[in-house]
Amino acid sequence: MRYHLISVLSILAAILLGSLAKPFSPLWDDMRMKHSWNAVPENWESLGNPLDGITIDLYVALKAHHENALIDTLYEVSDPNHPRYGAYLSKEQVAELVSPPPGTLELVNSWLECHGVPSSSVSMTHGGTTMSISGVSIIQANALLGASYQLYRHVETNETVIRTVGYALPTALHGLVQTVVPTTCFSTPHAQWQLPRKRSGGATSGEPMTAPLGRDDDLTTPSFLRSLYTTIEYRPAAPDRNALGIVGILNDYPSPEDLATFMSIYRSDGTNAAITIVQVNGGAYDPTNPTDESNLDTQYAAAMAYPTPVIFYSTGRGPAGTTDWLASWLGYILMEGINIPQTISISYVIDERLTSEEYATYMCIEFGMLGVLGVSVLIASGDDGVGKGDCVAKDGSVRFVSHFPATCPYVTAVGGTTGYGPEFAASLSGGGFSNHFRRPDYQEKAVTKFLQQLGNQYQGNYNATSRGIPDISAQALRFPIIVKGGRKVVYGTSGSAPVVAGMISLLNDYLISQGKVALGFLNPWLYGSGKSGFTDITSGSNPGCNTHGFSAIEGWDPVTGLGTLDFQGLLHVLPNYAGPGGAG
Ligand SMILES: *[C@@H]1O[C@H](CO)[C@@H](O)[C@H](O)[C@H]1NC(C)=O
Ligand SMILES: *[C@@H]1O[C@H](CO)[C@@H](O)[C@H](O)[C@H]1NC(C)=O
Repeated sequence: MRYHLISVLSILAAILLGSLAKPFSPLWDDMRMKHSWNAVPENWESLGNPLDGITIDLYVALKAHHENALIDTLYEVSDPNHPRYGAYLSKEQVAELVSPPPGTLELVNSWLECHGVPSSSVSMTHGGTTMSISGVSIIQANALLGASYQLYRHVETNETVIRTVGYALPTALHGLVQTVVPTTCFSTPHAQWQLPRKRSGGATSGEPMTAPLGRDDDLTTPSFLRSLYTTIEYRPAAPDRNALGIVGILNDYPSPEDLATFMSIYRSDGTNAAITIVQVNGGAYDPTNPTDESNLDTQYAAAMAYPTPVIFYSTGRGPAGTTDWLASWLGYILMEGINIPQTISISYVIDERLTSEEYATYMCIEFGMLGVLGVSVLIASGDDGVGKGDCVAKDGSVRFVSHFPATCPYVTAVGGTTGYGPEFAASLSGGGFSNHFRRPDYQEKAVTKFLQQLGNQYQGNYNATSRGIPDISAQALRFPIIVKGGRKVVYGTSGSAPVVAGMISLLNDYLISQGKVALGFLNPWLYGSGKSGFTDITSGSNPGCNTHGFSAIEGWDPVTGLGTLDFQGLLHVLPNYAGPGGAG
């Protein structure tokens, strides 16, 4: 197939040479639909044409010349049994792996030129996968993409975005372009935290309010977490070479003052915890007006990993919602190279049904690039169990809902638990199966075992051939946080993800202090030799879609994954290394 592509390209290049002088060549007039929804996505309404003068930054994501090279490399450097384990790449090497077929840039550039896009507004971004075109007017974007960009408002949240229900590309570019962003992905990821709701009986009210000894008001405090997950004795030794990243979108940002107050109450040896705020793409920052989400994420990341430095990314949304948050952050981080923190936590997810496969695949590949660079990415699995509402699809069938990017096979999805002795599944724990991503090899055995035990139950409600989430889990209920000086109690897998990220960061601290490389993409190790460092969670379930949801059972399950981390246990099953530092 590859050779096929090259030869087609050279024919295209020959056609182009003859037609470049003409402003609109037939090559660019032959447009074909790339992705389109049947209707405006639910809960969005058009407010008509965007304001005059608004411009958007278009990301044209290119397919790699060697389609499988990146992911093949990802599995090699992340599989403890592979000779290349731990041999992470530089960002330059990654850019080479994902580079498009020869001639692609010229071809795309001539298309852009044809539409009067100045070459000075085009640059390569996202670690070499993407041509970014800055300052494109709406008229120009509509012409380039056969689109109809409009201003849309979400009927519940009032959030506005500039998107199009469908878009096209010249037929000649279909084989070369993975997707264009922003186009048809309307929804923005939602933070996975909530204030405690009134519990009123029924399937979702399951958690008994137990008050085990040693817990402050029955709350999930850092000292409770550090004893339960056995990090309390560990003394970090490499805070000068290790960092923990927290991604903020939706203009969320934390307060360093609240962090100091939180630490003085809950981690009194760490009142000087360092947090660095990085503003990405015009991301907002006003320390006097923090959000609950960002304070939750940073307070628990810092309390778990202290004195490891925490970097918080406040990501901007562009004028009138022109930017895709996730694409914006990924574009920034992939250009950072050696400055990327070894461990990163993201507590925002989007209903996977609201993403097109081409969009989800692009974003997922970007996460795969982070893995090849040696970064562990932890993502909240969602707070709606197997799905919110009745989950009835257009054809009348009930389809469970999973959340992206947790469903991406190249990240580690974190579900929720509660209680102790024994710990059990939190009923909110997002879990289930993707409809975009096939089941990766690393979880084939674990997931098949679960499905065999499930038998016919829920047949047709979920996709039995695809990626299952979560991978692992942690406490998700009753986190005390400090916001604007006062205490609040919140819950959600939003808290579980930074708690786990804090612990993974401590494992990285240990490895780095021993002269080894960091853990990178975790899953091949977690489902292999890492498995024995987990406490299997075998009770509880994740109701939703008017069902009881899946049940946590022995082994992996789509409620709590492999279970919760036993830090001391994990220290003993850390992989051997071929990377810097030699075999361990
Ligand atoms: C959305 O806007 C409407 C009317 O302007 C207002 O009544 C409502 O409270 C807003 N909702 C939110 C969530 O801000
Ligand atoms: C099930 O998942 C696969 C990818 O693993 C996808 O190709 C297929 O379309 C999905 N089926 C449904 C009904 O969504």
